[in-house]
Amino acid sequence: MGGKIVGLSGSLSRPSRTRVLVEAAVQRAAERYSREPLVIELSAIAGSLGSAARVSDLDATAQAAVAELLDADALVLASPVYKGSYGGLFKHLLDLLDPLALVGKPVLLGATGGGARHALVIEHQLRPLLGFFEAQTLATGVYASDADFRDGALVSEALLERLDRAVDQFAPFLDPVVPRAARYSNGTHALAV
Ligand SMILES: Cc1cc2nc3c(=O)[nH]c(=O)nc-3n(C[C@H](O)[C@H](O)[C@H](O)COP(=O)(O)O)c2cc1C
Repeated sequence: MGGKIVGLSGSLSRPSRTRVLVEAAVQRAAERYSREPLVIELSAIAGSLGSAARVSDLDATAQAAVAELLDADALVLASPVYKGSYGGLFKHLLDLLDPLALVGKPVLLGATGGGARHALVIEHQLRPLLGFFEAQTLATGVYASDADFRDGALVSEALLERLDRAVDQFAPFLDPVVPRAARYSNGTHALAV
């Protein structure tokens, strides 16, 4: 087993739909790419976060969470929509990171909201934020609304298919390297023979 796929759920609530979405993405990615799954909940590290001006001001649990985020082979970052945007403390955690901390990091973006109205929060807000960090955001982001859940579980087939499509897009970053020539010579993978 390689490194970790680490998810950050940006909700302060428990139970949390955002956590369910992050959990699903992390589990699928961890299984597919033989990595260890880890989900971090903002609610679990929020205690010292609001008043922290730098990572060293965070308590030990929150500092350990930051270390896991930075060390991950790939990230799943998701926030609930609050007033049309990602949550303030979610943003504050990212504000504390070094601007170069996530360069080249593959990131699956997600969000949850009450309805479909704010689905583009991923494209208009989360993606530019990770663009600042020069992270490798996957083309497919996953937005879930209340209608996609039943009894706390993600039940929308369309959404789960979209999630699988997004997880597929980690492949260039997480699959073992296949030599280019071998991959394209006759349409088969030389390593698969
Ligand atoms: C303070 C607050 C503001 C919210 N603002 C929005 C909003 O602008 N648009 C929306 O679609 N949902 C909004 N919601 C609903 C949440 O985004 C939605 O219920 C989300 O799935 C909650 O995620 P969680 O269960 O992980 O906390 C808001 C919820 C709260 C608590």
